Amino acid sequence: MLETTQIDQSRPMGSAESLVPAPARVVVAHGDGIGPEIMDATLRVLAAAGAKLDIAEIKVGKDIYLAGNSSGIEESSWDVLRERKVFLKAPITTPQGGGYKSLNVTMRKSLGLYANIRPCIAYAPFVTTRHPSMDIVMVRENEEDLYAGIEHRQSDDVVQCLKLVTRQGCERIVRYAFEYARAHGRKKVTCMSKDNIMKMTDGLFHKVFDEIAAEYPEIGNDHMIIDIGMARVVDAPEKFDVIVTLNLYGDILSDITAEMAGSVGLAGSSNIGSGGAMFEAIHGTAPDIAGQDKANPSGLLNAAVMMLHHVGQGEVGNRVANAWLKTIEDGIHTGDIAGEKTTRVVGTTEFADAVIARLGQSPSTLKAVNNGALPKLNLPPVTLKAPAKKDMVGVDVFVHWREANGVGNPENLAKVLVALAVPGFKLAMITSRGVKVWPQGMPETSLTDHWRCRFIAEEGIAMNHTMLIQLLSRINGAGVDFIKTETLYNFDGQPGYSLGQGQ
Ligand code: NAI
Repeated sequence: MLETTQIDQSRPMGSAESLVPAPARVVVAHGDGIGPEIMDATLRVLAAAGAKLDIAEIKVGKDIYLAGNSSGIEESSWDVLRERKVFLKAPITTPQGGGYKSLNVTMRKSLGLYANIRPCIAYAPFVTTRHPSMDIVMVRENEEDLYAGIEHRQSDDVVQCLKLVTRQGCERIVRYAFEYARAHGRKKVTCMSKDNIMKMTDGLFHKVFDEIAAEYPEIGNDHMIIDIGMARVVDAPEKFDVIVTLNLYGDILSDITAEMAGSVGLAGSSNIGSGGAMFEAIHGTAPDIAGQDKANPSGLLNAAVMMLHHVGQGEVGNRVANAWLKTIEDGIHTGDIAGEKTTRVVGTTEFADAVIARLGQSPSTLKAVNNGALPKLNLPPVTLKAPAKKDMVGVDVFVHWREANGVGNPENLAKVLVALAVPGFKLAMITSRGVKVWPQGMPETSLTDHWRCRFIAEEGIAMNHTMLIQLLSRINGAGVDFIKTETLYNFDGQPGYSLGQGQ
């Protein structure tokens, strides 16, 4: 069901009236658990600060799931989101049990929200943290990588998950990171990948990073292998500024950085794409404290500040941010962050009142925000590159094969396949889980029932699909179960495939 509410903000408080442009048309969902409480608190602060918002409310989450909608959102709500493109969302509950799809994943994919931005900032000494100087912005790619959700069981023993990385996806997210850094006066962007192992997928991410970094000479850049990079972040977060990385690494690292900042209840995040933008707190519905007026609304409020910048009301965003910093600095804290510097423990409503009372004030110890209206990010549409010259040079045929007495001997599989090869190309290698086992495998390599058999065109032979189909037909005729094939190509003369480990 769709309700549309119009918050009358024609008389914003204080001097903010002159600062704000026409109302921004946004969508709001109150969510589940503590969602309604923290959303009410947040909207009250925004209204008092002079935000001009024309709000359409949609319902998402538990009730929608339980009414039989497996995505947690109704069709009519998509229309509202598509039309307004800006979404402030409170946390929602995904009911336990099979069949329910994560609304967040659906949102990101359907609206093309490719960038997940999560500032992880320490507010020491007012919020306890072991890393008082930490001020990291995580920029995580949101749509690709292992999260494409393409998984298969291929044999009795083996399942696989496809890791998909596109040049367009890399360009979009890396440019976003540099544009964000430029707009926010950040000094350095660090790329993290595992391109020492995944030379093609992570290698592409790193390569695109180097290309785009060259367009931003005023911003420092470096690259770290993700494992040592994460270790360094944990050891000395103050040495990092903006970090850009692929989806899986970003998912893990952004939770680590949020936790390290001491502020799971404080951090907001944005999900940005060409089709829209979604802003939310990073925490969940906190069912243990729901309905008790105890929840900290700061995460959602900080997300709302990001939204105000996004809709061109950055000055109002700064008013809210500074009043919030002053509230934290004055020791007015919800229970989750209460500590040595707390002067009064308050509930959700009183915390929002305290922020409203401080609108127009700035913190004195914590760094005040005075970045004004942020410059618009320059994010030109990303297009496909001109096609490369593509030459077929071979095929990897994956087979599910074992012998009656156990997993099987690769020498025996090779004998079968060598006899089947079509004139013009020949069996070059067999691997088990990527490690070469034929010819000249190591006896220690552990074997399974899943073999990658690489056929390569002989010198001077132009391979084609007909030859490939002939080969598969012969393999099939011999009763060998091929599970899938990957055709091997050279692109502009460069191999578009990796070598086998040990090859
Ligand atoms: P959670 O973040 O809801 O709670 C973890 C702990 O942090 C709890 O002790 C909770 O009381 C506390 N906490 C969280 N936010 C707080 C706040 N604003 N103020 C004070 N304390 C706060 O994570 P949990 O328990 O793993 O998940 C609960 C539900 O939330 C699940 O149904 C989950 O699916 C959902 N969830 C939804 C998300 C979203 O909509 N974006 C994100 C994460 C979880």
